[in-house]
Amino acid sequence: MARPVRKAIFPVGGLGTRFLPATKAMPKEMLPIVDKPLIQYAVEEARAAGVEEFIFVTGRGKSAIEDHFDHSYELRDVLSSRGKSAELSLLEEMLLEPGQVAYIRQQEPLGLGHAVWCARHLVRDEPVAVLLADDLVMADVACLQQMVDAHGKVGGNMAAVMDVPLAHTQRYGILDVIDDDGRLARARGLVEKPKPEDAPSTLSIIGRYILDPAVFEELGRRETGAGGEIQLTDAMARTIDRVPFHGFRFAGTRFDCGNKAGFLEANIAFALQREDLGEVTQSILQRYAASAPAAPKTAAK
Ligand code: G1P
Repeated sequence: MARPVRKAIFPVGGLGTRFLPATKAMPKEMLPIVDKPLIQYAVEEARAAGVEEFIFVTGRGKSAIEDHFDHSYELRDVLSSRGKSAELSLLEEMLLEPGQVAYIRQQEPLGLGHAVWCARHLVRDEPVAVLLADDLVMADVACLQQMVDAHGKVGGNMAAVMDVPLAHTQRYGILDVIDDDGRLARARGLVEKPKPEDAPSTLSIIGRYILDPAVFEELGRRETGAGGEIQLTDAMARTIDRVPFHGFRFAGTRFDCGNKAGFLEANIAFALQREDLGEVTQSILQRYAASAPAAPKTAAK
């Protein structure tokens, strides 16, 4: 039995240049899907999976994230003087307990592996989850909860995985699979962002991980990989002989909110699920489907 996952790291230091100008003065993790910021979905997912300590690895210009998870006394006063109890309880519910949240600065943008390594002193010697807020998963059972259940049985390193088109392997960490039961795929190697012709498979890592502490030691060697960055994928690959790696095929739909088309789709999909917005969203979509001009030739990036 693997040890329980009580801590989670949220790397939120990235610049978000794909969403300029929206992200010029606002962290990309604060972009909303309908009315909730991406980072809040990730925190709620971790909470639903039993996480008790939330570690944000931030950078310059990210203080809106700290404010978001803090009390807002002014807002609370205004809402209570106006009798807005639903909004008040919404704010209460999202607050994390005192001492449950920590913020660490990643002083230089040296890669995802480096961001995770920056949290090593808070994690110490236990398994830890990593959630990338850009990857949003809609699921009946929170994606991380599904992983925690599977991890309890196999331990080691684990990442959520899905098959992607061969042409997209250059966007992901890719598994070299030795054993696959359809749910768990054990890998003998991992390659960060290979060209399609070099990819060992099309099974790709998406932004949910459970890491064995051995990965921190490996990251401490500061070896660089794809793009000249310290890659989390490489550190997991280099420990694979001592620490087994499993890709976990989750039940649910993943939206790549790091690109505009995925972000738009997530907004539509989440709005359609909402009691207060589902119907109106559907009728908007029907209206546009009926009258939309032909799609422009160049797809949104
Ligand atoms: C990161 C990881 C990559 C993973 C991806 C999932 O890449 O390095 O292995 O497949 O997240 O979204 P990034 O998207 O930060 O370039």
